[in-house]
Amino acid sequence: MSETTPRKFALLPMFGHTKGKRSPVTCALKCDNACAGDVCNTSKNSYFRDIASATMSRRAALGFGAAGALAVVLGGLGSAEKAVADGGSGLSAAAKTGFRPSKLEFTPIASIPADVDAMTVPAGFTWLPIIRWGDPMFNDAPVFDLDKQTAAAQERQFGYNNDYTDILELPGSKGNRAVLFSNHEYTNDAIMFPASMPAEQVRAVGQAAHGLSVVELERQNERKPWTYVKGAPLNRRFLNSTTYELTGPAAGSALVKTVADPSGRAIKGTLGNCAGGTTPWGTILSGEENFQGYFVAPGTSAGDKRYGLTSSATARKWELDDPRFDTRNPGYKNEANRFGWIVEVDPFDPTSTPKKHSSLGRFKHEGANVIVAESGHVVAYSGDDERFDYLYKFVSKDKYREGDRKHNMTLLSAGDLYVAKFTGDSPAAEIDGSGAVPSDGAFDGTGEWLPLVVNGASAVPGMSVEEVLVYTRLAADKVGPTKMDRCEDVEPNPFTGKVYVACTNNSDRGKVGKEGATEVNPRNANRDGHIVEIVESGDQTSTTFTWNLLMVCGDPAQGDVTYFSGFPVDQVSPISCPDNLAFDSVGNLWISTDGAPSGIGRNDGLFKVTLEGAERGKVEQFLAVPRDAETCGPIIHDEERNVFVAVQHPGEEGTFEAPNSLFPDYVAAGTTPAPGQARAPRPSVVQVFRTDS
Ligand code: FEO
Ligand code: CA
Ligand code: CA
Repeated sequence: MSETTPRKFALLPMFGHTKGKRSPVTCALKCDNACAGDVCNTSKNSYFRDIASATMSRRAALGFGAAGALAVVLGGLGSAEKAVADGGSGLSAAAKTGFRPSKLEFTPIASIPADVDAMTVPAGFTWLPIIRWGDPMFNDAPVFDLDKQTAAAQERQFGYNNDYTDILELPGSKGNRAVLFSNHEYTNDAIMFPASMPAEQVRAVGQAAHGLSVVELERQNERKPWTYVKGAPLNRRFLNSTTYELTGPAAGSALVKTVADPSGRAIKGTLGNCAGGTTPWGTILSGEENFQGYFVAPGTSAGDKRYGLTSSATARKWELDDPRFDTRNPGYKNEANRFGWIVEVDPFDPTSTPKKHSSLGRFKHEGANVIVAESGHVVAYSGDDERFDYLYKFVSKDKYREGDRKHNMTLLSAGDLYVAKFTGDSPAAEIDGSGAVPSDGAFDGTGEWLPLVVNGASAVPGMSVEEVLVYTRLAADKVGPTKMDRCEDVEPNPFTGKVYVACTNNSDRGKVGKEGATEVNPRNANRDGHIVEIVESGDQTSTTFTWNLLMVCGDPAQGDVTYFSGFPVDQVSPISCPDNLAFDSVGNLWISTDGAPSGIGRNDGLFKVTLEGAERGKVEQFLAVPRDAETCGPIIHDEERNVFVAVQHPGEEGTFEAPNSLFPDYVAAGTTPAPGQARAPRPSVVQVFRTDS
């Protein structure tokens, strides 16, 4: 199975939080302790990677060689689409020079003990932050000052806890100007603010630290680091006051109307933004994940229960200031229905209205990643990050049109929605919950995409289209999909069309009353997670597929039962809790992790995984993030030998008064820190680059 080539994808010639698992602080603030409560389901890329998705698949469809296809596609692109493809992108360079091993050579680092407060990169590389929490983005923004934080200042400064991040070069900039997108998933009052700060002020600054940021970057050349440009024309903060247009069949539905928005189409703010993706047309997708943690609700309806909404006070208590955050208030019973969507943002137009796409369903979206199918339809894959929840696929009604950006920006507004069912091919008795490989040598089998919405109509008996899309979890429960071990990032490889699913962990699998190991989730008390590889049977719109596990994670040296597609387990970097995924310019998979410290006892990191050829399954650790942090992003610009990660929640378990990390400033002893420096950890987007050549 592992070497299976997708039937309609030519393989290109370059290839030879759970409880007890992550920080309790992270659990409380990021996920609203989703893992501490009952399981909700009680029913039986980077600036080139996604344009590469489009061009590679179109290439296969059109039968071009690499350079020919590139010329055809780029010739038809609008300016923003060019921006995704231009600027030394992996695809451009590869197409010009022919495919070859990645330029990003490095000696893997040793895994780093969990108490080390340092950013660790390979020999010959160094790192610098590009932008940090609180950095001023506009000319009228004050310099960050830990002691003088206000909502007005934070609204003009970079937000907190950057997660999905991408860098898109600006058209015509010769590679020296770009735009950076980051989302800001959540806040941690205990380490952001002094204990003496008034609660009202904490809540106001905290709200302003959520949302999204777009900021321009500049550099001298590709060997020099990026710096952000304060006051640049494209700079933008998206706040809780920003209006998002709800698109698709649920827009205007009675299920999403509130007293403040009787149209059911204009939603204020975005919450819990986690991973994301960059579309072939140069927009950014961001997943609204743990939105339930921001709302008080009756907590008694099937919908509330299935999405983890309860009547408890929230961690941040915004409900004290704004009635919409308590859905028991008159006129706001649907407010939580307005979150849990995939958001689309145009980073090249600072006046554009961002969108929330109801056609992709409502659940705890980790993110979404788009590929153009051979047929021209665009396909978006998205995981629901909750124990025992599901994997989804959206297929657009209309087709991608090269160069027609305005049209392409409508593609996620209408289409079909499916949920995945996996069937293993080994006897159930051989899946013993230990992670031991069955006798046929692989965790593998077949699968189906079960329809939820087809041709604009509900495929779920007893539910309207609007109900399917607003209560997607309840709809999916009715059609029998496979309960997964927390699907995080789901990303198609632009070079092969194979789809990779990061299942991060599931401490509850196999517990009394809970589902036990299955071939696609083969470990009970799954502490370290695994990666599923899906091969669609036809093009990406197919409703059937085959699958296998690329890896079953852990630390072989600590005795963990692991599997790396047959690669010797004593030659891999230990890896735990895969989360965000990315591909480099030659099709290697890169995995960032979230939760390794309390799993294998090591700081989280970024890992390169070889997918094809004799070294398939080889895992090499590239970097480790500081104490308590999670590795987000990532962006792999291997053609320039640059790597970028968003370092999220450094020092999460400390307090303002007793910080657990001083990332990224690390002011030397005896040096007077500048305002904001060194006295608190600052989540930051970091670039890692070579210093030795
Ligand atoms: Fe925000 Fe599923 O990680
Ligand atoms: Ca098997
Ligand atoms: Ca994540």
